[in-house]
Amino acid sequence: MAATNPTAAHTTHLAKVFAQYPIQVAHGEGVWLHARDGRKVLDFYGGHAVAGLGYGHPRWLAALDRQARQMAFQTNALPMVIRERAAARLTKFAGLGLDTVFWINSGAEANENALKLAFKITGRSKVVALEHGFHGRTAGAGAVTWGALEKWYGFPRRPFDVTFIARDNPAAAERSIDRETAAVIVEPIQGVGGAFDVGKPMLEALRRRCDEVGALLIFDEVQCGVGRTGSPFAANYYNVAPDMITAAKALGNGFPVSALLLSRRVSNPLKVDDLGTTFGGGPMACAIAEAVIDTIESESLLANVRQVSAYIRSSCIIGPVTGIQGAGFLLGLKTSRPAKEVQAALIAKNILTGTSGDPHILRLLPAYILNEGHVDILSDALAKISA
Ligand SMILES: Cc1ncc(COP(=O)(O)O)c(C=O)c1O
Repeated sequence: MAATNPTAAHTTHLAKVFAQYPIQVAHGEGVWLHARDGRKVLDFYGGHAVAGLGYGHPRWLAALDRQARQMAFQTNALPMVIRERAAARLTKFAGLGLDTVFWINSGAEANENALKLAFKITGRSKVVALEHGFHGRTAGAGAVTWGALEKWYGFPRRPFDVTFIARDNPAAAERSIDRETAAVIVEPIQGVGGAFDVGKPMLEALRRRCDEVGALLIFDEVQCGVGRTGSPFAANYYNVAPDMITAAKALGNGFPVSALLLSRRVSNPLKVDDLGTTFGGGPMACAIAEAVIDTIESESLLANVRQVSAYIRSSCIIGPVTGIQGAGFLLGLKTSRPAKEVQAALIAKNILTGTSGDPHILRLLPAYILNEGHVDILSDALAKISA
């Protein structure tokens, strides 16, 4: 192996851990990215499901400006109205009886805390997770992520026992969940797994079995939540209520914020010092989350997601696309050719899409403000790409 020369000039000061798309972003506007070379790129990727409101939304900007001027940061030890108000807003938006919020900063951190609470409350040490699920890169969240140990985990071992089950076999799932199971963690629609819809029968089976054995059900809605399905959460979309929901990404529309929503069974036993965070629950993050939910509701964006999603399904099975899975604006386009090739061909036509863990699924995660005219641009481009 060639030795690295520590004095050689660096071409970048960033850790080289991300594959790079050939678009240098200068600024964004709505669903459009403006590249440094002057190109205008239609964005169906949304910064990996983050930009739910699109770029530069006036309400998001106003909340940011207002809260920054009033009080940019304050510790959780000092009560603030905005922190309480945003939590009330989020639980009302979800409407699932999960009426307590613990604010943190990222999806992985939300999952890490959810798992920790499940162990504390049940006194058990096993977790059941689904094949192809993705839950983040920390020790606990990575431990329940399918394939992490083989690919990138890095820690010497998992901190607890994990059983992975098939994502589409309710009967087998029920057999794997027993009285040693502290929690079952599931993305109702798997994001990285290819916009794969785990579906109502599976989610109902998980709920039933968790109730039978006293395990807690965690919905990781980091990618599929906060309006992305066209419902507030996938839990609403499927009408299956978990004990905990983790939300992040679109909740901040680019400002780092995540939330852990808790049922009474989980929140009632909590006492001071069971959980903690410095930045979680910061007033900027809370003001932004409140503004994001207000905007989704006041601009009827859930209805828009449902309508435009149906339009994508009716107009984008064309060219290399043979079918569509997922829900709302978390869609997987099944491709006859490797999805990476279709993605590259679309980038050449100034359209950005995502790939996934499935080499034949191209992922769409656009902003909730996307309209049918934008979809026409995508379907016209797909029609010109060979199957
Ligand atoms: C379903 C899901 N859970 C958790 C995470 C991790 O979130 P974060 O990168 O904010 O830690 C992701 C990120 O892509 C995700 O898609």
